[in-house]
Amino acid sequence: MKNIAVIYKSKYGATKKYAEWLANELACPIFEFSKTKDLSKYETVIYGCPILADTISGAKKFATIKTLIIFTVGLRNPSTSNYEAITKTLPAKAKVFHLRGALNPANLSPLHKLGFKFLKNVLSKTPIENQTEDDKTLLDACTKKVDFTDKSAILPIVKHIKELEKAISVDKL
Ligand SMILES: Cc1cc2nc3c(=O)[nH]c(=O)nc-3n(C[C@H](O)[C@H](O)[C@H](O)COP(=O)(O)O)c2cc1C
Repeated sequence: MKNIAVIYKSKYGATKKYAEWLANELACPIFEFSKTKDLSKYETVIYGCPILADTISGAKKFATIKTLIIFTVGLRNPSTSNYEAITKTLPAKAKVFHLRGALNPANLSPLHKLGFKFLKNVLSKTPIENQTEDDKTLLDACTKKVDFTDKSAILPIVKHIKELEKAISVDKL
């Protein structure tokens, strides 16, 4: 597909890894968000951003892009978590995919370390039998490295792009 670019934000590297896998697979350019200036030549943008405190930042920058695909990267399990609140904050036209990231508490910035200390306090108050799978994952990540990154998780995004390409070539017939 022509005029397509992958753009990403990444604090600790997981979103960057997915963005690189995608750009490789699609043979398209890739840019870090803060270095992205003129987007006018791109008809399709795939934007990847980590979920930090239930928030995705930067998506508004792509409001004028014709075809927008967003992938979020978080620790929660997309197949069992409710992402409705996050998806609602994203441009309505975006096709959204949720992927799983990674976290090493030893690498966190001082501010994020503090946040995770607070999170650990909150989560540990829930009796273990009432903790959700996501609570347990986040609690684990407070004390040890967790990594759910998985190259095959990009396949639904690649499939979506191929379907778009097919639809465009049929339109041109
Ligand atoms: C301060 C902070 C807040 C986070 N909040 C969430 C969250 O609300 N939901 C979630 O699923 N993951 C959350 N995570 C996990 C990150 O989304 C995960 O580590 C992701 O891989 C980070 O992307 P990056 O490696 O590209 O920076 C949080 C991580 C940090 C450090």
